[in-house]
Amino acid sequence: MRGNMMIRKILWVVMTILAIGVAGYAFFSVGAPAMRNPFISNIFSTSPLAGYAHMALGGIAMLIGPFQFVTKLRAKYTGLHRWLGRTYVASVLLSAIAGFTLALTASGGLVAKVGFATMAIIWFYSATLAFTSIRAKNVEAHKRWMIRSYALTLSGVTLRVYLGLFFASGMSFSEFYPVLAWISWVPNLLIVEWFILERGQRA
Ligand code: HEM
Repeated sequence: MRGNMMIRKILWVVMTILAIGVAGYAFFSVGAPAMRNPFISNIFSTSPLAGYAHMALGGIAMLIGPFQFVTKLRAKYTGLHRWLGRTYVASVLLSAIAGFTLALTASGGLVAKVGFATMAIIWFYSATLAFTSIRAKNVEAHKRWMIRSYALTLSGVTLRVYLGLFFASGMSFSEFYPVLAWISWVPNLLIVEWFILERGQRA
């Protein structure tokens, strides 16, 4: 049991470092045009409003998420949990709407467009259910939907990890981009679904 707790803490630290790194990269892309890579520059020039909203708000949600899962913080500062949580939910909802509009013009053809658009819809849906379940005072459902919601927020991290691996493998962008639009989030959801089931069985 203690070993289990240790592994969970290590995973939390790794997740938080990656989340801070990718959120920082998103803020840089928003605030420092000179630092943008050509792909990101193109998004900002064709869809500026959606580009800014998606990246800035997605970065905020990514930064807030890890701290909301810390039991001690929640127990001690419930008011802070509620306010950070509301900021997270508002950021996800707006970033998902912006992400959906970006998905409609995404590179990689129809497969990529549908992949990113589906992700945006489920991201919106899971944050909505996490919020409505806590308003209905259902803490267990709130927890389950927040785990799913944050797994999708972290697709911003997994997308970049796979992007690096695909580039390293020598595959061409047009070959891997449609795949990326799906594998950046479907495995994340499957992993947390397994985690939720396993937790339920232990309880
Ligand atoms: C292990 C996970 C979590 C548990 C057990 C939990 C538990 C709770 C509880 C008990 C409340 C009600 C507080 C009160 O008013 O007395 C609450 C509120 C809230 N939580 Fe969580 N929470 C968890 C994770 C998260 C995460 C990850 C987020 C967002 C990133 C979040 C967002 C919110 C929001 C938005 C509210 C306020 C809802 C309102 O406006 O009334 N929670 N949570």
